[in-house]
Amino acid sequence: MKLTVKHLDNIGVEVEGFDITQPISNEMQEELRALWNQHGVLVFRNQDINPERQIAFSRVFGPLELHPLKATRSEEYPELFEIESGGSKDKSMTAFYKGEAVVGRLDWHLDLHYTGKPNHGAVLTAVEVAGEGGLTGFGDLEKAYDALDSETKALLDKIEVSYAFSMQRRHMRYVNLDGYEPGPHSPRKPSDVNFPDFPESVYPAAMTHPVTGKKILGIVEQFLDRVITPCKAGLSNDESIELLERLVAHIRDPQFHYFHQWQPGDMVLWDNWRAMHCATGTPVGVRRRINRTTIKGNVELGRVLLGE
Ligand SMILES: [Fe+2]
Repeated sequence: MKLTVKHLDNIGVEVEGFDITQPISNEMQEELRALWNQHGVLVFRNQDINPERQIAFSRVFGPLELHPLKATRSEEYPELFEIESGGSKDKSMTAFYKGEAVVGRLDWHLDLHYTGKPNHGAVLTAVEVAGEGGLTGFGDLEKAYDALDSETKALLDKIEVSYAFSMQRRHMRYVNLDGYEPGPHSPRKPSDVNFPDFPESVYPAAMTHPVTGKKILGIVEQFLDRVITPCKAGLSNDESIELLERLVAHIRDPQFHYFHQWQPGDMVLWDNWRAMHCATGTPVGVRRRINRTTIKGNVELGRVLLGE
């Protein structure tokens, strides 16, 4: 098998010539890892996927990590994290956007960002495709960094930013709250969904990718809280807030985004150290199921802020 690629919008490639039912040779494994490092997002179409094959495929890219939320793990395959809408979990995932009820919408984020140690990557597979909505967006934080002017890049080298975990979207400082209303069953505190609480985590505003060595913009909107001691970089507190507002507007620029419209047989792998992602959500009652496997990081990109 020889792989060929077709570029997607703005980030990632669709990989052709891969068949998940066939053994993956060492040579093929190297080729897949190289494509992952080079492109950040890999889309595979028309794959005959089952949990064993998804888990074996994911292990090509590193050891797997179990999700901290036990309730979302598959009983039979603990490596699988099941993302489901259109069922009993809808209530807690429903919120209102300009009067419209949406299930499972998620702002731009990095998985496990709030732990200080985001996973290296993840694989999503389509188990049940939504009849309406349910897109997954990916955004290239390497490209977003490269597009900044040199003055901003120099400033970011002197800055760290913190992320503050919260179950309540309206407590997040940099997400777009225009027309947003939480649903009557939206969780208010982590224990409402058996989640532990997490202390703040801190990252360089300009991160260096541990594998590629490329600079990555360390700004995503979900959980983004503040610049740590802005005066050290010669900024007032107000200026640091304006800077984060400007950077969040920057990462929202569609020139960095690819939105994946799911089809049966789809499998998507991404580099969580480079690509942010988001979920558009689905209308109430629309069935959708995606299985995620999570590729563990062997590097701590950030640190947990305790007693500073
Ligand atoms: Fe996510």
